[in-house]
Amino acid sequence: MLPEIDRILISRDEINERVSAMGKQLSADLSEAVREDGHDPLAHPDRVVMVPILTGAMVFAADLIRAMPMKLSLRLVTVSSYPGQSTESKGAAMRSALPPDLADRHVVLIDDILDTGSTLRLVSDLVSEQSPASIRTCVLLDKPDRRTHDVACDYRGFSIPDEFVVGYGLDYDGFYRNLPDIVALKPDAFA
Ligand code: XMP
Repeated sequence: MLPEIDRILISRDEINERVSAMGKQLSADLSEAVREDGHDPLAHPDRVVMVPILTGAMVFAADLIRAMPMKLSLRLVTVSSYPGQSTESKGAAMRSALPPDLADRHVVLIDDILDTGSTLRLVSDLVSEQSPASIRTCVLLDKPDRRTHDVACDYRGFSIPDEFVVGYGLDYDGFYRNLPDIVALKPDAFA
């Protein structure tokens, strides 16, 4: 274990179990939506688009989509809100273009953590402008006490208290994304 890790909040086993369950639930709900549109969810191309919000959602999304036994495609967007050595949101800003082809598709926005809500609010509003068939939001972690923006959270892995966490895709100053567990850092790890 890295010396700057204070403790494990959510272990890799707990994460794996929860992410598998979320994948199954999402597949069931999206397959139902595609069937209601009159299509076969195992065959019809491009009815379901998963949109991981990078960089933090990279690890979560990689595991989540592999727990979804259905036809789907991926589009990536990059948003930043915690630049560099920051543990306070500076407001979300798009760092990449939004995929232009979301109209009439079922879109799932995937993020690592829902904090103030500014990231999902921003991306969700921009996606809405393209008139998708539906928009769902899916996050691994939720800090409900921190919310300042009104945003729906349709699929949530774990609710956690207001503490800065890293691992499983989440970083501090670009590091710790590779840790398999969600952990808290010791105070002296922060610059
Ligand atoms: P908002 O405030 O837009 O935040 O809901 C979402 C983004 O903020 C980052 N974030 C964190 N990153 N540990 C991190 O490593 C945390 O505890 C944390 N809280 C928020 C994250 O990038 C997320 O996408």
